[in-house]
Amino acid sequence: MFSEEVIQKVKEQNDIIDVVSDVVRLKHTGRNYIGVCPFHHEKTPSFTVSRDKQIYKCFGCGEAGNVISFVMKTKNVTFPEAVKVLAERIGIDIEENNDKKIERAKFDKMYNINVEAARFFYNNLRKDEKAYSYFKNRGINDSTLKKFGIGFAFDGWHNLRNYLKAKGVKEEELLNLGLVVKSPKGSIYDRFRNRVIFPVFDYNGKVIGFGGRVLDDSKPKYLNSPETPLFRKGIHLYGLNFAIKTNMDRTVIIVEGYMDCISLHQHGITNVVATLGTALTEYQAKLLKRYVDKVIISFDADVAGQNATLRGLEILKKENFDIKVLQVPQGKDPDEYIKANGKEAFLKLVNNALPLIDYRLKKAEDGINFLNKEMIIKYVNNVANILATLQPIEREVYVKQVAQKAGVSEESILETIREINKKTSKNEEKTNINVDFGQKLYLEPAYVKGERTLLKLMLKDKEFLKIITNLINREDFIVESHRTIYDLIVNYHHLPDDERNSKIDTKCAENSECTKEWINIQELQVKLGEYDVERMIHDCIREIKKFKLEESKKEIMSKIRICESKGLVEESMDLAQQLITIQKEISNV
Ligand code: GTP
Ligand code: MN
Repeated sequence: MFSEEVIQKVKEQNDIIDVVSDVVRLKHTGRNYIGVCPFHHEKTPSFTVSRDKQIYKCFGCGEAGNVISFVMKTKNVTFPEAVKVLAERIGIDIEENNDKKIERAKFDKMYNINVEAARFFYNNLRKDEKAYSYFKNRGINDSTLKKFGIGFAFDGWHNLRNYLKAKGVKEEELLNLGLVVKSPKGSIYDRFRNRVIFPVFDYNGKVIGFGGRVLDDSKPKYLNSPETPLFRKGIHLYGLNFAIKTNMDRTVIIVEGYMDCISLHQHGITNVVATLGTALTEYQAKLLKRYVDKVIISFDADVAGQNATLRGLEILKKENFDIKVLQVPQGKDPDEYIKANGKEAFLKLVNNALPLIDYRLKKAEDGINFLNKEMIIKYVNNVANILATLQPIEREVYVKQVAQKAGVSEESILETIREINKKTSKNEEKTNINVDFGQKLYLEPAYVKGERTLLKLMLKDKEFLKIITNLINREDFIVESHRTIYDLIVNYHHLPDDERNSKIDTKCAENSECTKEWINIQELQVKLGEYDVERMIHDCIREIKKFKLEESKKEIMSKIRICESKGLVEESMDLAQQLITIQKEISNV
């Protein structure tokens, strides 16, 4: 997108100390600056910024990066957006080069074709009595139909194709946008036929694709645009363009379906977005983080919906949202509920949404008979796992509640939690790393350090690079960004060190995780001295292998537990055999 010169210029002219100072109050200490980390909660400052190196690193949480990744992370913006912010900050113009202009024109054209298609569908709706009355029967009014651009695709093979062709759109473009499908024989026909159509907008309100619903009970109920250059799954959220135009109070309600979203909007609840039945992605969570801090997740009560809820919660937790779970009673979806009970009733559900922990504790009660001793034990174990992640004060509150429920002492629950925490910290055998500046406060798993050390050695010496690449390839690395960096080192190993490093710098720039690891690797001090390098290499590889084996072991053990609980004796014997093999391998590495 941007030329290397532009990125270089933006980095050179935006002093990291100034940029960070807009967000963090920094104190000068020796060669570095130090402040309270914006990426995790801390009282004593361990966030260190180096003017010489133009990087930051937190010794409390391990975050690291440069001026661009700092803007990406603190403002929750993409790489190009961060570059733009920084370019504006120093008043330089990011000229579009010719390639980029052509690229942009191509995209503009695609959006225009989608708009034409959306208009066509929209105008069809009033021409088809059964489609129009479908929405009337579902209680959708004209102004909502207009706001969401809802339309209809006639029952025919070439309606849209003919309409757009007459407007000069080429077949190739229609195919590219997924508006038509090519049959095995090579003929081209409309993808959406005899379906009501929901245009899908990105957060800017541009039409990126379509969803079409049947008017009856036939299958598939919904048909969506395929993956296209504009419609990339897991990137956008339906309704976000409308939600952000209203006062969201930094809170959003996430629902599953098109109709849930539309219906809530029509009832005046406008801070609603829909995932369209797929699991929430990290990308979507980051997109939301730009606009809100609180999410209320309202998925269907069916099993699929519950699972989607749980997966979504994990992703949202990682982005530090304040999360609540809204449960619609009587197995209804939000659309059905608000239609039957009205806005006030739905707002009551919103108010009564359970905080994440309460929701998980409540789920743990499912199927537990509190008169049955074995079930109580199972329940307490499950609950202890949930509570193990909490901070002490929060934990104490919940332990009290759970103890009462289960009729056991608080102390025994606390003891179980302590056991769990002891086990997890043992599993992630941690080592300490000496780093260039500051005292490192956090511990990282040994395999992460092992991978970094290998990459560091590959940078240090061509001879080491040869040995290491002979022993281990990219796929063997566990950390995704390490794989990328491995490739980059191999690709650029013939360049002089400075040039190689600045190439890798640029390649890592768009991905803040890569930037972080790239900085961590460069900052890593490897003391060779008396330590034999080959032995060091083998030690590192051993850590990686060991971790992988431990992971498979965990997996087998959990399978055994499942088999045992189901009384599958044969299967659990097989698994036990596998466990023994793995155990042997572990002691052999
Ligand atoms: P209505 O029946 O019109 O009220 O739709 P709904 O949104 O209540 O449907 P449901 O809860 O079954 O599904 C939720 C969302 O999942 C839908 O809005 C769609 O985005 C998606 N979905 C449902 N069924 C299908 C399907 O057959 N194919 C695809 N691709 N998506 C589906
Ligand atoms: Mn529905």
